[in-house]
Amino acid sequence: MILTNVKAYINGEAKERVLEIKDGRIEKIRNSYSGKEGVVDGKGLLVLPGGIDSHVHLREPGATQKEDFYTGSRAAIAGGFTTVMDMPNNPVPTITAERLKEKIKLSKKALCEIHFHFGAAENNFNEVKKADPESLKIYMGQSTGEMRITDKSAEKHMQMFDRERPIVIHAEDQQYIERTGKRDIRAALIAVEKANKMAERTDRVICIAHTTSKQEILSAKSRKKTMAEIAPHYMFLSAKDREKLGNLGLVYPPLRDESTRMEVWKHLDKVDYIGSDHAPHLISEKNQGAHGFPGLETTLPLLLDAYNRGLLELGWIVEKTSENPAEVFNFNKKGHIREGNTADLILVDMKKEWKVRGDELETKCRWSPYEGRTLKGKVFGTIKNGETIYWNYNFQ
Ligand code: NCD
Ligand code: ZN
Repeated sequence: MILTNVKAYINGEAKERVLEIKDGRIEKIRNSYSGKEGVVDGKGLLVLPGGIDSHVHLREPGATQKEDFYTGSRAAIAGGFTTVMDMPNNPVPTITAERLKEKIKLSKKALCEIHFHFGAAENNFNEVKKADPESLKIYMGQSTGEMRITDKSAEKHMQMFDRERPIVIHAEDQQYIERTGKRDIRAALIAVEKANKMAERTDRVICIAHTTSKQEILSAKSRKKTMAEIAPHYMFLSAKDREKLGNLGLVYPPLRDESTRMEVWKHLDKVDYIGSDHAPHLISEKNQGAHGFPGLETTLPLLLDAYNRGLLELGWIVEKTSENPAEVFNFNKKGHIREGNTADLILVDMKKEWKVRGDELETKCRWSPYEGRTLKGKVFGTIKNGETIYWNYNFQ
């Protein structure tokens, strides 16, 4: 395929280029092209490296009424993510090598690339070794059943896990939450500080999932080898929305107040990457108190809309949705439009205005906390491994 008539985001700039794609890779980046064969007209749109969302819950196996690898991957592709990383908190959590193998098999039907975080349990060190996962998820504090572990086990996991690979931390201190009945910023801060100390002693790279406040971002980033993730809902929603949304507004960690949200915007330069924390539940389940939002299809459009309103720079968006996650999670051939890299590309229409409608989304849960919001900016097309799987806002 020869992708012409596009502005490709290369080295921090959108440039008029022709992308020659062959065998799933970006073979050559040309200034112009005069041939006809294999030419695809990119309609003058902006081309970005495919998004990498390292924080999604695709619910298979065990909760496929909410989502499965196929529907979740459609949501990813429509939302501009060519690679996602699935979390281990299935009803039967991914804490054994056997279960990881099963998940990998089930995920073959996906349209995007799926990688996996492996769950740390109190005593599954041998399973971690056997599974040899790309990433380890440690729930410090809040979790259910088998993934709830002691600090001692958490630190031993850090010590034993491959030094070159990231360890993702859910940081909310369970003891504090139980003592005070509050799941507030303090609950998160206690866990961030604890995780940082453990990571420092064991000399590991850790990633603090879903930071919600300036304090968590600064505390996480007080250590060089600690990464701070932010979820879009802490940028675009607050306690005000929680009131309006009722049970649909329930999420872990909870939406913070408006002043916390404003402070987060002032510290976005310190955040390392965005994870959508795509955590779909059916509306009937939300009505019974389930926590979590779908996010794969709204994350990038929300960011593009913020760009259109002059709130974010394009460079920030690409860095946080693609370049940095590629680096943190060791995807060497992704994250940049570069000769030799995987041809994972998205075309975005910065001018396209659309309204978020839950029943028009690909996710199986079919609702959104952003219902009714008008956004300017949408994913027009998605190319995965050189194959066009989404074009003109439709699956091919
Ligand atoms: C997550 C989910 O539903 O899997 N929900 C959420 O609100 N983020 C669980 C979790 O990460 O605690
Ligand atoms: Zn999550």
